[in-house]
Amino acid sequence: MSAKMTMDQPDTRRRLDDMAQGLIGKPLDRADGPLKVSGSATYSHEWPIDNQAYGVLVRAPFAKGTVQSIDKQSVLSMEGVLAVINDERLLRNPAQGTANEAPVQGVKDVVYLGQPIALVVAETFECARHAAQSLSFEYEAADSVAIDPEATDAQLEKPDDKQFEQGDVDQAMQHAVFSVDQIYRTPGHNSAAMEPHCAIAQWQDENLTLYGSYQMLKYNRNELADSLGIDAERVRIVSKYVGGGFGSKLGIAPEAVAAAIAAKQLQRPVSVTLSRQQVFEVVMRRSETRQHFQLAADKSGVLTSLSHVSLVSNLPDETFAEPVGQATHFIYGGKNRRIGLQIARLNKTCAGSVRAPGEAVGVTALENAMDELAEAAGIDPVELRLINIPDNDPEQDIPFSSMKFREALKLGAERFNWNQRQSKPGQVREGEWLIGMGMASAARVNMLMESEAKVTLAADGSITVETDMTDIGTGSYTILAQIAGEMLGIPMSRIATHLGDTDLPASAGSGGSWGASSCGSAVYVACEDIRSQICKKLNCQNDELTLKDGHAIARNKRYDLVELLDGESLQAVGHIEPGDTSKDVRQATFGAHFAEVAVNSITGETRVRRMLGVYSAGRILNEKTAHSQCYGGMIFGIGMALTEELMHDPRDGHIVNRDLGEYHVPVNLDVPQLDVVLLDERDDHASPIQSKGIGELGICGAAAAIVNAIYNASGVRVRNYPATLDKIL
Ligand code: MOS
Repeated sequence: MSAKMTMDQPDTRRRLDDMAQGLIGKPLDRADGPLKVSGSATYSHEWPIDNQAYGVLVRAPFAKGTVQSIDKQSVLSMEGVLAVINDERLLRNPAQGTANEAPVQGVKDVVYLGQPIALVVAETFECARHAAQSLSFEYEAADSVAIDPEATDAQLEKPDDKQFEQGDVDQAMQHAVFSVDQIYRTPGHNSAAMEPHCAIAQWQDENLTLYGSYQMLKYNRNELADSLGIDAERVRIVSKYVGGGFGSKLGIAPEAVAAAIAAKQLQRPVSVTLSRQQVFEVVMRRSETRQHFQLAADKSGVLTSLSHVSLVSNLPDETFAEPVGQATHFIYGGKNRRIGLQIARLNKTCAGSVRAPGEAVGVTALENAMDELAEAAGIDPVELRLINIPDNDPEQDIPFSSMKFREALKLGAERFNWNQRQSKPGQVREGEWLIGMGMASAARVNMLMESEAKVTLAADGSITVETDMTDIGTGSYTILAQIAGEMLGIPMSRIATHLGDTDLPASAGSGGSWGASSCGSAVYVACEDIRSQICKKLNCQNDELTLKDGHAIARNKRYDLVELLDGESLQAVGHIEPGDTSKDVRQATFGAHFAEVAVNSITGETRVRRMLGVYSAGRILNEKTAHSQCYGGMIFGIGMALTEELMHDPRDGHIVNRDLGEYHVPVNLDVPQLDVVLLDERDDHASPIQSKGIGELGICGAAAAIVNAIYNASGVRVRNYPATLDKIL
């Protein structure tokens, strides 16, 4: 059986609200948690494939130029070395996160430092690594490289479809009673997922199986097939457990293509695992941004105009551009609006989606500008947000699908004791520490993506859920089981969830915060179909049916499900796709961040003392996994505010801090007690399960709350992230 649902209309049935099993929303532990911490979850690198050879990538030691020749003999004579592969397909970097798009990087041309130029394959990893370091090749490097997007000779593009104008911003700025005209900068970021990228490729005749660590298998399969020039049907990708992605595994990376080519050539399985340094160099980065804000307000602080013009970067010809202004389109009102994006073409690692692409940096800088406007207008920062929340989408004049932005701001202010904040900076001192509070709004677009999932209710009353959905640490295994168990009245112990394999029905995968809602909706649609099949047996309507603890109850009669099935199993493939509700209404998630910091008046060191996030994202499917996503986002915010910064040497473009020893992400001692509150909300437009994406909301604007708190503590405005000690002193 197959059932399809297109989100053309709001789904007001809210079936999950009054179901009997009591699983939805419950803070259940992640099913994969014990497996992961006990070492019994099989990560991609760990698949016990016999007769593996090991490949190590050789990277270009220059950022721009041409490889002229590779002296394969220089290493082929070494004991244990099996092959040196410099197939031109290797040199390409698959475009990030787009389906069926041919890879676009140069062939013999090197465009960034670290770009793969060859793969050395040997009997052992150590041997391959030694040979990779010993390989000699000739190249011609260009005299100069483009590293700085703001350099006077930077090559800039201004795509028409990324410029928006409404009304007259310049005139509004001239007539403003209060205004802010400032430039903010955020540096490049690395995803910094715990598990490095890896792939084991194995061919059987013309069919490839690749064990790898990826987020969106349906797309990854197409990308890999395109890179190899074969049909997607010949490619199977398996990603059972993924040790974090944060965007870096939305697309395949060079290890996948390299392993596949080598395994084909050698006629044996080949494993390629990137070192941490290689992950930094060859996978991708978040673009640095330069963001120019012009805010104009009337005498009561209401925005008359909002302008947000950004500069980002990427490699030549890459299509992705950090969508910095994504939430600026709808978060606040203002009749006159300008949102623009320019792209500088640089010789730096491919820029792609990293941890809430767009809003993570865009909402953050906007919320710094709003803090400056609040001060200029003499209005409390929370109040300034409240009076500028639009009733409708301010550009398209369509309603919001659901919005608890106001509630989040108000509840957050109350819970954080915001009224104890001194509006004048530098007023609170504890010894050598200056104490301050800051806040920021959170906003992120919501997306539903086409997904399929198969649900089987077996004759013994157990359930199997099958889809190629991935669990990147977010809780997919658990949440999908909760939805199926709730819909069919089966306890968690009797539900098996199989994910992470392209042989299973294709889902949208994990990305853009859409995973749980999209794939969860596919599971819901499948279960609705199975419920209908049960209804047929009982001759009742779906609304009359209650399923609980393996029993069906209809018209006051109770049936044992196993007896009712009588040896038969029921199955359905659920298929969800977005429809008109993605156009007729503006779908987004909202929230509010609050932070208290202590800034050392002698060293300039900032410590975050407490943080609160209040978020609304439709129905919460699992309170624990949702909280954890928000904690993660807030911790990213601490990193973004205080330490994270990719540094490229301006002379040759190499990443100076290409490991976790030098690229500083927050550790436990940097993170205080975090407080998360999730508001109760249902979004009938977003999905048939009334949920929206929550994965990335916690990061959107979090860093701004900290940097605004630094200003409140010390009187120092940091407009160039991160707020390191030198900028505060
Ligand atoms: Mo996310 S950065 O879309 O995995």
